[in-house]
Amino acid sequence: MTKKSTIEINGKKFDFPILEGTTGPDVIDISKLYASTGNFTIDPGFTSTASCQSSITYIDGDKGECYYRGYPMDELAEKSSYLEIAYLLWNGSLPTKAEWTEYADAIKNHTMVHEQMKNFFNGFRRGSHPMAILTSVVAALSAFYPDSIDVNDLEQRQISARRMIAKVPTLAAMAYKYSIGQPFIYPDNSLDYSENFMQMTFGVPAEKYKVNKVFSKALDKIFILHADHEQNASTSTVRLAASSGVNPFASISTGFTSLWGPLHGGANEAALNMLKEIGDVKKIPEYIKKAKDKSDPFKLMGFGHRVYKNYDPRAKVMQKTCHEVLEDLGRKDDKIMQVALELEKIALQDEYFIEKKLYPNIDFYSGITLNAMGFPSTMFTPLFAVARTAGWIAHWKEMYLDPQNKIGRPRQLYIGEKPRKFIELKNRN
Ligand code: SDX
Repeated sequence: MTKKSTIEINGKKFDFPILEGTTGPDVIDISKLYASTGNFTIDPGFTSTASCQSSITYIDGDKGECYYRGYPMDELAEKSSYLEIAYLLWNGSLPTKAEWTEYADAIKNHTMVHEQMKNFFNGFRRGSHPMAILTSVVAALSAFYPDSIDVNDLEQRQISARRMIAKVPTLAAMAYKYSIGQPFIYPDNSLDYSENFMQMTFGVPAEKYKVNKVFSKALDKIFILHADHEQNASTSTVRLAASSGVNPFASISTGFTSLWGPLHGGANEAALNMLKEIGDVKKIPEYIKKAKDKSDPFKLMGFGHRVYKNYDPRAKVMQKTCHEVLEDLGRKDDKIMQVALELEKIALQDEYFIEKKLYPNIDFYSGITLNAMGFPSTMFTPLFAVARTAGWIAHWKEMYLDPQNKIGRPRQLYIGEKPRKFIELKNRN
């Protein structure tokens, strides 16, 4: 027997079905609300609104847990690899040995980009933010790979998905090289996914690149932690863009655009800049005061989350990874890390943060880690985008396989002018 909810409007009652998922909050299916009642709902920021059904990722915000296809993310971060997670998110199950070999080889065969794409980079000022470059060149993939843009062709969907997993790291490394005036470094397919990204980013033609295994393992964990996260702003952007049927490369490029915002994927860069600005544990109380002051727009970057009302499980893994990288560098007492740890300790004991359930999120420690590994802060969001590409394409595929899929077209509450007559300029005073 389907559970139902009853809404009463002007004395008239309307029943709507309640849908139950595997776990998490039930949803009230209001798709027939307008047809039945002539009313819309409104929910700025979608704080109480599900946009779709999904089986990819589940976040338990109260417990501070996150699952990729049912597997605990923190366990995957310790035991799996980013490329295996990309397979898991796309296919819904972990690969067998044969499936893994086929997939890993296929990705390696797509790591290079069309040689002419280099010309794209030359059009940008050297100092351009790598995200400004990436949002453009990822969309341009549709110009270079027109043989895999038919969204209704299952085989082309898979080819374009594999091309993005394979080529986005290459493009991200090229954006970095271009910004520092160094030559592009081709992929080296004898390396694994994260090692290859490190060598394309930090390698130079003049020397053989030596992989730092602590760094490449840390980067792979960071990629796993950032791979997917339910219907966050950038994933919802990809879904809405893709709902019009536009090609996969253009759809995924919209995710880059949304992720770049400082409230979303740009928070890692903003969090490190904030920690550097604080600079000393003695100045922490002043910044905590600013964060609590309603008249001050300052927020603690890397703190708070729409879904997590407990400690972000990714932040726990990030903090541990950060210690590992700093230890490898002989920087156990890194000043910025000390500020971050003390800031977290003070904030978590403060009534304001306790009452509003504000905890460190993934961005609080990722910036310190990436900075210690040699990445400039402008590369933090591109790295987030490299990782989230796996989630974006998995949601893109799921949306197309959803029988309820239709073009996204929200309605509105109109609060503008009533209809009025046009007065020609000559008749106006
Ligand atoms: C990511 O959606 C995802 O899953 C995103 C992400 C992913 O993997 O895709 O997890 C990645 O984007 C992580 C979040 C990174 N952003 C930041 O760290 C920026 C700082 N955080 C805040 O801007 C904020 O916490 C958000 C944007 C993350 C969440 O905002 P919400 O859910 O809209 O919550 P809110 O802004 O309404 O905050 C609730 C209250 C407010 O106070 P009141 O108006 O109720 O009095 O808490 C306050 C806020 O002012 N608040 C903060 C705060 N975050 C929220 N106050 C100080 N510092 C903060 N960081």
